[in-house]
Amino acid sequence: MSEVFKSRSLNVIEDFSIEERRYFFRKTKELKDAILANDEKKMDEFRINDPDFGIYEVFLEDSTRTKESFRNAAKFHHAKVSELLTSSSSINKGESYADTFNMLSGYHNTIFIVRSRVEGLTKWLTEETGEYAKRNGLAYRPAFINAGDGKHEHPTQELLDEFSFLEDNGMDFSHIHLALVGDLYHGRTVHSKADGLKIFDSVKVDLVAPEELMMPDSYIDKMKENGFEVRIFPSIEEYIKSGDVALMWYFTRPQLERMGERILQKEAILREAITFRKEFMPLIDPRSKFYHPLPRHKEHPTIPTFLDKTSFNAWERQAINGMYCRIVLLSLIGGKIGDDYVGERKKDPDFESEEYIIEVKERKEKDGKNKNYSEGVRPIRDGIVIDHICKGDEPKAIRNHMRLISSVLGLDDGKGGEWVSKGSDDKFKGIIFRPGSYEFSRKDLKRLAALAPYCTLNLIKDGRVEKKYRTHTPPRIYNFSDLCCSNEACISHPVNGEGVPATFHRTHDGKFECAYCGRVHTFKEIWKKN
Ligand code: NCD
Repeated sequence: MSEVFKSRSLNVIEDFSIEERRYFFRKTKELKDAILANDEKKMDEFRINDPDFGIYEVFLEDSTRTKESFRNAAKFHHAKVSELLTSSSSINKGESYADTFNMLSGYHNTIFIVRSRVEGLTKWLTEETGEYAKRNGLAYRPAFINAGDGKHEHPTQELLDEFSFLEDNGMDFSHIHLALVGDLYHGRTVHSKADGLKIFDSVKVDLVAPEELMMPDSYIDKMKENGFEVRIFPSIEEYIKSGDVALMWYFTRPQLERMGERILQKEAILREAITFRKEFMPLIDPRSKFYHPLPRHKEHPTIPTFLDKTSFNAWERQAINGMYCRIVLLSLIGGKIGDDYVGERKKDPDFESEEYIIEVKERKEKDGKNKNYSEGVRPIRDGIVIDHICKGDEPKAIRNHMRLISSVLGLDDGKGGEWVSKGSDDKFKGIIFRPGSYEFSRKDLKRLAALAPYCTLNLIKDGRVEKKYRTHTPPRIYNFSDLCCSNEACISHPVNGEGVPATFHRTHDGKFECAYCGRVHTFKEIWKKN
C-alpha cells in the first residue's frame, strides 16, 4: 500500500504538484503499453483488486465519456463500483449534498467521482465527509475526483488531454505550442489548462475565439503569471492568416447550455468563427493534430466529420486515453501505486504562522506623550480612530467602503464620523472616528484586517493613543458570517442553500480567491451586499 497519493482528492489540477503529474503521465504510459501488450502481470501492479473497495459515481450533469470511461476504469480494478441515480435520489427532496455524500461514504465507499453544475462541490465534500468519517470511526477517509464542476475545472480531462499531447511529442516536457479554439468562456476543460500546462517548461498558447466566447481575463492573467506566452485571435481564419500557427489544436464546442440569451442569439455567427472548414486544409501544416474533449454536435461540429479519416484526427485516441488515465488515477488514489515516486509533494498552505495584525508603538509627540486626539478637527477623548483606509483609491470608492466597514464591524450607531483626506503624498485615504468605549477582541481585529488591510486602528483613552495596531492582508479569510463569494454557481453561495461558509485564500498579488470555486476578488468584494 502506497501512501503518497492515497485518499487524496483531485478538485483542481493544482491539487497534484507538477512533479506528481509528470509521474502520473509516465505511469499512464506504462499502463497503456501493458494493456495493449496484454501484459497481465504489469496490469496487476496497477489493479486495486479488492471487491470491497467502493468507487461511487455521482453525475448530476450529463456525461458519456467521463462517466463511462471512469466506470470502465473502476471495473478494471475489480472493485465495488456503484452509481447514484440522481434523478431518483433524496437530493430531489431537498437533501443537502453533504448529507447525501456522508451517507454514501458510510457504506464503505472510498472514492467518489462527481460531476455537477455547482462549482467547488468536491472540495466541500472532501472536508465534510472527512469530518463524518472521523466522528463515525470509519477506517478510511473518502477521496473525491472532480469530473467537471460548472464552468470551473475538469482536472481529469486535463490529465488525459496532456497525456495525448505528450504521446504526440514523444513524452517531451520541455515545450508546447497549443491553440485553444472554441468556447473558451464557458469551457471548463480549457480553464484547467491555465494551470495544467505548467507541466511543460515553456508554453505558448494561442486563444482562438470571438470576443463573446473569449477566455475570462482571470484565466488569461493566470496563464501570463505562469509564464505562458499568450496570443489572441478572433477566428480560425484570422489565426491561419497570422502565419505562425501551432501544430496542436484543441477544439471545444459552444456550450449552449451555459449561455445567456444575448449570446445564444448570435450562435450561428460565433460558431462559424470557431469551426474548421475544408478550405483551411491546404493552409495548415500536414503534421497538425486536432484534439477535442468531445462531444461534438451532430449537426454543427466544430471539427466536421470530413476530418475523421485524416491524419489530423487525434481526438479519437484522446478519448480512448481517458480510460487509461482514469485507471491510473484510481490506482494512485486507491494507494495501489505511488511507492516509487520521488519528487516534490504537494504541500498544504500554511495559514497559521503569519502574523498580519501588528501592534505598533505610537511615535511620541515633542512633549514625550502619545499623539493627542482630543485636539484637531474632530476631537475624541475616548474611542477609536481607524486611519489609512483604502489609501490611494478614489474618494467615492473610499466612502463606499467605509460604509461597509462600519456596517460589518457594527459601528453604525450614528456617533462619530468618517471622512476622506489627502495626504502629503497626494493620495486619498479614509478615516473613521467613533467616540465611546470600544473593545476589540482578536476576532474583531481579524475582521478589521479582512475589511481594511493596511489600515491602522487607534484605541484612544483620555485623549491619548492607548493601543495601536496596523493590519496587513490575511493569508486566509473565513469564519465570518458576512462573507460571500460573488459567484452564484459556487457551492458556498447562499442561493445554493448548502450552508457552506465562504472562505478565501490570498493570492500572490494580494487578492482573495474563493477556496471552493476559485473566483478571484478584491478585499472589498468578499462581503455580502447589504
Ligand atoms: C467536456 C465537459 O463536460 O466539460 N466533455 C468531457 O468531459 N469529455 C466538454 C463539453 O461538454 O463540451
